[in-house]
Amino acid sequence: MSPDKKLRSSDWFGKSGKDGFIYRAWMKNQGFPPDEFEGKPVIGICNTWSELTPCNAHFRELAESVKRGIWEAGGLPLEFPVMSLGETLIRPTAMLYRNLASMDVEESIRANPLDGVVLMCGCDKTTPALVMGACSVDIPAIVVSGGPMLTGKFRGEDIGTTDVWRFAAEHKVGDLSTEAFREAEGAMCRSAGHCAVMGTASTMASMAESLGISLPGNAAIPAVDARRKVLAHRSGRRIVEMVEKDLTLSEILSREAFLNAIKINAAIGGSTNFIVHLTAIARRIGVPLALEDFDTYGSQVPLLVNLKPSGEYHMEDFYYAGGLPAVICELQDHLSQEPVTANGKTLVDNNRDAPCYDRDVIASIEEPFQREAGITVVRGNLCPDGAVIKTSAASQELLRHRGPAVVFETIEDYHARVDDPELEVTPDSVLVLKHVGPRGYPGMAEVGNMTLPKKILRQGVDDMVRISDGRMSGTAYGTAFLHVSPESYAGGTLALVENGDMIEVDVENKRLHLEVSEQELQRRRTQWNPPPHDYERGYVRLYIDHVQQAHLGADMDFLAGGSGSAVRRESH
Ligand code: FES
Ligand code: MG
Repeated sequence: MSPDKKLRSSDWFGKSGKDGFIYRAWMKNQGFPPDEFEGKPVIGICNTWSELTPCNAHFRELAESVKRGIWEAGGLPLEFPVMSLGETLIRPTAMLYRNLASMDVEESIRANPLDGVVLMCGCDKTTPALVMGACSVDIPAIVVSGGPMLTGKFRGEDIGTTDVWRFAAEHKVGDLSTEAFREAEGAMCRSAGHCAVMGTASTMASMAESLGISLPGNAAIPAVDARRKVLAHRSGRRIVEMVEKDLTLSEILSREAFLNAIKINAAIGGSTNFIVHLTAIARRIGVPLALEDFDTYGSQVPLLVNLKPSGEYHMEDFYYAGGLPAVICELQDHLSQEPVTANGKTLVDNNRDAPCYDRDVIASIEEPFQREAGITVVRGNLCPDGAVIKTSAASQELLRHRGPAVVFETIEDYHARVDDPELEVTPDSVLVLKHVGPRGYPGMAEVGNMTLPKKILRQGVDDMVRISDGRMSGTAYGTAFLHVSPESYAGGTLALVENGDMIEVDVENKRLHLEVSEQELQRRRTQWNPPPHDYERGYVRLYIDHVQQAHLGADMDFLAGGSGSAVRRESH
């Protein structure tokens, strides 16, 4: 560190008198020699380790590799916990707490003597929560992702989280025994790491790499591959240099960096959750990003990976085939050369010659798996502020469709009636699910890919048009229109749909239309009241009162932007 470099942490540890005494003395109980506090950059390791977040349960070990790199580069590493969000155990949905975790991250970074921070991200929401929080402070930060699990192996078959939906459907109609169903659980989750498909966690790790806020190669190295530790070690070294150079998040996260991330996400067939999280991150760092940008910059990008849920392979295969660097290499002529990344070089420079070792997994840009793959934004009277569909995970023949609505008022109503033999539904029906949006669920649950009615599945039909104000798990597939905005709970048109109303979807023309006259909608609107909720206090009350709609990233209204890293007052 150059001697004239003014470190933020010196405002604590460099102080004389009572305050400096207190700041240093209580750190010394951890056995640090006095010179550790003399002009060394203090690097926080923001850890989402938790045994309640199985995808991140190996993070204390991974953090040790980060620490080695920080020590080696002359920094002082200090690891700290923040709220961890696991998709699998948290109810009603981890998304409800993304904003809360981001507040924890933001305030923990700002309040403490940190010069830089390493963000240990894994399971879906842990990445956006940490990046959002760090953006609102804007000191140098680097993402280290935890990496995907090894590919599941079940009775001679490669499996990953995507197969949960298939197994559940097969089990529902009796094609898979309960014994086999239970055996598959352990066969799928057989190593440390997050979901091994291009679900939301892999999408978020790829987002970090595409935005340039991680080192190259971060997205795909399996959690248990020793090279993941090497990446963590190098990231530890690098964050110390980033502090020296004052390479903050706002230096990296230009609008061009966001557009690069949108294009790369389209090429990898990333999760629709990407839209909500990237939008929220952009709003924290102050970069203008509209829902249409995802369509304008993403929808014409070809699909270059053959990964589940849209394709055949798993994240382990992706890594061995070249990983995200190979995809970025293919896309390089379509990406902005401008944005600098965490290692000080541009995204294109980092990946210009990245090799591909398997064209079954990563296609060339000349011969992609699909010509146009990204997310399409649709509008219409049903979603004046937009809705989205991941076309690569949809049935092509349903992208243009007209059918009568089968309406479920709540998720409980759906569960109670979906398998009723009396339910009036045909494969042409359009399944409509209300009150699963940000305020309505609350937390915008991943239920938009509703499992089809048993009687439809029995006909051998495996996809129908589905519409909701909720999200879809990144591991899921189907012709699902998601993130309808405004949501039904907020009085959006979705709230007014009745059984039998005709709905027209036309993805090519970006249209989602309810064939009910404006006059009739007005009549229904005057009779409509939002359903009551029982959240009178606590965080959930705050969330319902302040969460914004999906097209704005479902962040709290008061969290947009940042407050910088300055803290004016001492504590004693
Ligand atoms: Fe954690 Fe899928 S459950 S990444
Ligand atoms: Mg998920």
